[in-house]
Amino acid sequence: MWQQKWVMGNWKMNGRQAANAALLSALRALPASDALVGVAVPAVYITQAAAALADSAVWVGAQDVSRFGDNGAYTGEVSAAMLADAGVQFVLLGHSERRQYFGEDNVLLQTKWQHAVAAGLVPILCVGETLTQREAGEAEAVVAEQLSLLAALKADTVAVAYEPVWAIGTGQVATVAQIGDMHGFIYRQILSLCGESAKIRVLYGGSVNAENAAAILAVPGVDGALVGGASLQAAAFATIIDAAQ
Ligand code: G3H
Repeated sequence: MWQQKWVMGNWKMNGRQAANAALLSALRALPASDALVGVAVPAVYITQAAAALADSAVWVGAQDVSRFGDNGAYTGEVSAAMLADAGVQFVLLGHSERRQYFGEDNVLLQTKWQHAVAAGLVPILCVGETLTQREAGEAEAVVAEQLSLLAALKADTVAVAYEPVWAIGTGQVATVAQIGDMHGFIYRQILSLCGESAKIRVLYGGSVNAENAAAILAVPGVDGALVGGASLQAAAFATIIDAAQ
């Protein structure tokens, strides 16, 4: 899996059982792919996704995980152990929407990462700068600060999604040059933080769609895509997966 391209869908706060069933069934029916395919669904639909995708190669993901341990008096929380028990294989951490609306920071994300790994989940750490930060020439510094949490984790396998905040859900995709430059920078940072033998996947996210996926996935250093809106459309998501062969 550390050699394959990854195509991960993120449904965000979307879905209803009937619509999910159709999407999951379409995912299940896809021809075998060289890519690792997954879909991060709302917590309440994880068991539906896990049942629909049982014995398939498609991974079920969560969009967040509790900062607390396996069980306890933490009303409303879902632990990493619960996610694993429900059939989850990967979890998104630090998506920009969680950083923006829930104030997630490196200290919190380190804890979440540790719980995820302890439960056998693959964390995908989301990083990316805002437009203001990019225009101020701070994009690399912002991403470096977000990646710095890896230093204390001694992780030898690291999956990151680079998602420029200004490209998420806007239809405004980063240029091939911007993506290539930042992915190269992220690779160098991770190697420096985690050691030269670290296994690394760096996905790009931000308005990836059926039309632009092939060009983005062909950029050196792009190991896959984290797809939001287009992952809710079976045909578009299938085209993106196809572009990742
Ligand atoms: O997690 C997915 C990203 O936020 C990208 O979302 O493809 O709708 O721009 P988007």
